[in-house]
Parts: sequence; structure tokens; C-alpha cells
Amino acid sequence: MTSKNNKNSPVSKVAESSIADKYFSFLGTTYVTLEGTTRQPAATKFINVLKKVHADGQSGSQRFDVSACLAGKDPAFKGRVWFWSDLHLFHTNILTYCQRAFDSIGNMNETLLANCLATVTKDDILIFGGDISFGNLTATNEWLRAIPAYKINVVGNHDVNRKVLLNLAVDEQAACLELDYCGQKVLVTHYPVKEDFLETDWVNLHGHIHNTPFPPGLGSGQRHINMSVEHLDYAPVSLDTLLSKPRELAKRVPARPASPWQIGRVVNLNKEAGFGYVQTDAGDSQYIFVVGHAIRRSEIKRLTVGEKVAFELLDHGHVRQLKPWRNVGLNA
Ligand SMILES: [Fe+2]
Repeated sequence: MTSKNNKNSPVSKVAESSIADKYFSFLGTTYVTLEGTTRQPAATKFINVLKKVHADGQSGSQRFDVSACLAGKDPAFKGRVWFWSDLHLFHTNILTYCQRAFDSIGNMNETLLANCLATVTKDDILIFGGDISFGNLTATNEWLRAIPAYKINVVGNHDVNRKVLLNLAVDEQAACLELDYCGQKVLVTHYPVKEDFLETDWVNLHGHIHNTPFPPGLGSGQRHINMSVEHLDYAPVSLDTLLSKPRELAKRVPARPASPWQIGRVVNLNKEAGFGYVQTDAGDSQYIFVVGHAIRRSEIKRLTVGEKVAFELLDHGHVRQLKPWRNVGLNA
């Protein structure tokens, strides 16, 4: 890694370019979702954190000539740059949300690490597309430090706690990366950008949507490559592979099946006792949900009676999962 601490690092150019501003602009505007409603991709407080990361150039202390490596200026790095996104370490519910076939979350964490160690070396560059972990920082960083590669995280919504960027054990964190890889321009972001925002000849390497279909409101998807781990057999993939076979990769994991979710409203809520009831829009039946089981404790504080929700039943009368309507869509 001869290019560390390079004062003329192309990484600094990212802060000067206009495409990042377009990314922030996109995050603050609305688009049509799969459900036919409009939504803004990211919360303003998250966008502000991204802008700060971007203005700083990076959150880490080292400069690194990523673009030069990727552009093939240093042939030693060709094929030695790896990508993956949305690992969601320690996130038990992701096994259900995204049909990940692991026995337990511990097994998933171990498999992801084993796959990574079998792929990357200390001389490689490993780029995360955000949403690394839902676990505590100590356990997460212990997992990250086991990987010897130079690590860069392109910040995802779950890498920010309220208005603070998590202090992850990576070498750099970036709002987005602009890469020139042997002539192919690549914009790396956590959220897929709207096709209109992509400049001519650019492709968008993104995460966030996991194994859900590409949102029609963002364009055709022909210039987007989804690097969520569900599409990559849970192992980092080289940029060569991603660029040469994006459509094939997209087909490897089927889209999430027709949703078993029902739509309804909260009709009774006991926050202190930790339970409530929801009723379908048809108004036929009421179902009980338990806080911490069907819905996260942090989310219950913002839930209100009468609020529109999506929910999935466990069995007669019990709710297995519940999402406030504001979280439905691109919020995995
Ligand atoms: Fe995610």
C-alpha cells in the first residue's frame, strides 16, 4: 500500500465534484415507491451527517489513493478491490426480512467473516456499501478488526446513530465514492440514486434495497448494480465481476415473494405495559402485538393510536412483525 498518506490523493477530489451534491439532492427529494406512494429516501439528519463526512473528505486520519488504484494506474490492485453491502451484522430480524438461510445471527456473522477471510488479503481494499452492523460497537469492531484488508465504508443509514457517525473500525468512511475503473465511471453510494441523477456513462454501485425489487421510481435499473450481500452469496465480490455480470448477479437471488404483510391501523396502545392492538383496514379483526417482539422498543415511542401500519401475523391473533407505515418501503 504505497499510496497511503499521498498528499495528492484523488480521494480529495471527491469533495470537489458535483455528483456528490446530486446524491445529497436526491436523498432530499421524493420519488414513487413500489407501493405507489412517494417518499424521501433519507432523513434530513442523516443527509447532514453525510454532508459533514463529505466536507471532511473522510473521517479517518489517512489519505489513500483509492481512485488511482481502481483506475488501473497501479496494476497491482487490479482485481484486488472488493465490494459488499448491507451485512447487517447482529441484526436478528434480517434473517426473516431478507430470507437469509442461516441457523442463527451468530452463524450469519461467522459465515460472513469466514467468506471474507477466504477472499481478501491484507494487500486488498475492501469497500463496504454501508449498514455494516446493528450490534454494539465493541462487538462490531472486533468483527471488523479480524479482516486484514484496507477497509472503507460508504456510509449507510444504519451507520449513523441519530446525528452521529458510528466510530467503526474501518480505515475510512465516505459519503460516496467516485471511481474511474479502467475508463468505467462508477458512483458508489448506499442508497441507489435516481437514474436521472447519474451522469452519462456512469453506473451506480449501491446497497440498501437488499433483495427487494429495484424501485420503479428510480428508473430502469439498467445502470444500477446492487451489491447487497443477498446478491453476492454473502462474500465480497471484485469490481471486475460486478461490472461484467450485473444482470446475472441480479438474477441469482429471487426478488422477495409477494408480501404477506397486511395493512391496518393501531387501535389500542399501552406503551408502558408494552403491547397494543392493530386492526386491518377492512376493520374485521384485531390482532395483539408485543413490544420488543413484533416491533422494536425504540420505535414504539413514536407509534400512535390511529397510525397506519403494516403487519405480519404469527398465528391466530398474534402479530409477528409490525412496521409503522412511514417505515414501509426502502427501510431494510
Ligand atoms: Fe440495509
